[in-house]
Amino acid sequence: MKPHHRLLDILPPIVQAPMAGVQNHRLAVAVCEAGGLGSLPAAMLSTSDLQSELQALKQSTQSPYNVNFFCHATPTPDAARELAWHQALAPYYRELGLDPEHIPKGPGRVPFSTEAANILEAFRPAVVSFHFGLPTPELVARVKSWGSLVLSSATTVHEALWLQAHGADAIIAQGLEAGGHRGMFLTEDLSTQIGTFALLPQIVQAVQVPVIAAGGIASPAGVAAAKALGAAAVQIGTAYLCSHEATTSALHRSVLQSPTAQHTALTTLFSGRPARGVVNRLMRDLGPLNPVAPAFPLATAAIAPLRTAAEAAGSSDFTPLWSGQNASACCHLPAADITRDFLQAWVSA
Ligand SMILES: Cc1cc2nc3c(=O)[nH]c(=O)nc-3n(C[C@H](O)[C@H](O)[C@H](O)COP(=O)(O)O)c2cc1C
Repeated sequence: MKPHHRLLDILPPIVQAPMAGVQNHRLAVAVCEAGGLGSLPAAMLSTSDLQSELQALKQSTQSPYNVNFFCHATPTPDAARELAWHQALAPYYRELGLDPEHIPKGPGRVPFSTEAANILEAFRPAVVSFHFGLPTPELVARVKSWGSLVLSSATTVHEALWLQAHGADAIIAQGLEAGGHRGMFLTEDLSTQIGTFALLPQIVQAVQVPVIAAGGIASPAGVAAAKALGAAAVQIGTAYLCSHEATTSALHRSVLQSPTAQHTALTTLFSGRPARGVVNRLMRDLGPLNPVAPAFPLATAAIAPLRTAAEAAGSSDFTPLWSGQNASACCHLPAADITRDFLQAWVSA
């Protein structure tokens, strides 16, 4: 018998994937108002931005919403690796007229913390989701004490069992097709990573908690297929990237809506952890999984000036063009329309 969390009764079957860097509360609100579960990604927000985004979200919808955090361990910078990384990027700095001696430092992405929990507490979101495992048991207990439902991504059966044992109320089965960062946290071995329709039924069989399918789901038929394989809900990211409410750049949108988007790969170059994006020049030149990239999230800082300069000249050579393997549904439509199509497919499946 599967344990039951009362919040699961109100959880919509369509979850808009939190997507740091390409959305704010507006996308979440549009999805919530259309009957899906909208998500606010917090990984790239300062504490004051988190506060104002949550305020805006709360003011704009009465429906349940999800707030998402990364929960990686902050790495110790490695001077030798930083130097090798800067040397690998130096030719590009020169090409774009940037000074390779002045590469900014910066964490890029911050993990869930007591400070974030202090802000979150006033909002008590219906759902709080995590990527890269779970925060400390104390922080998990604190979030659960507000009545929030705790979700996290699993990329293997082993990770799903770990998350269930450590308090996750539902598990997001993130297949290899998924856009953005792999949520993998118990292994760095990419050969353990499998496709959504192989991973989902194995996790459904292994755990007692509900399982949410993610990765490559981009059409009503994909939603129905995930339901047939035992999903309690689906989490969809890429299909929302070109919606009116996403903040995805014009460059990124045009790549997603072109045949170029048919070729994605996992790359560590933009952050230090494997993430799926459309193959571009940097990935082709250095190899998408080049070990010279510093540990997550330290690789981001040295890429940022290249990205800014190239984008100003209309080039996506240094842009992380995050995308899942199925960008075929990326259309310039209101997120509400996209959500309603998926909800309809779920209900009639
Ligand atoms: C642009 C982009 C950004 C993402 N950022 C996050 C994030 O901040 N937090 C998170 O938990 N997942 C993030 N993901 C992964 C999604 O949660 C989800 O696993 C994925 O979008 C599902 O696959 P799909 O893109 O094929 O629909 C991101 C995905 C994309 C495409």
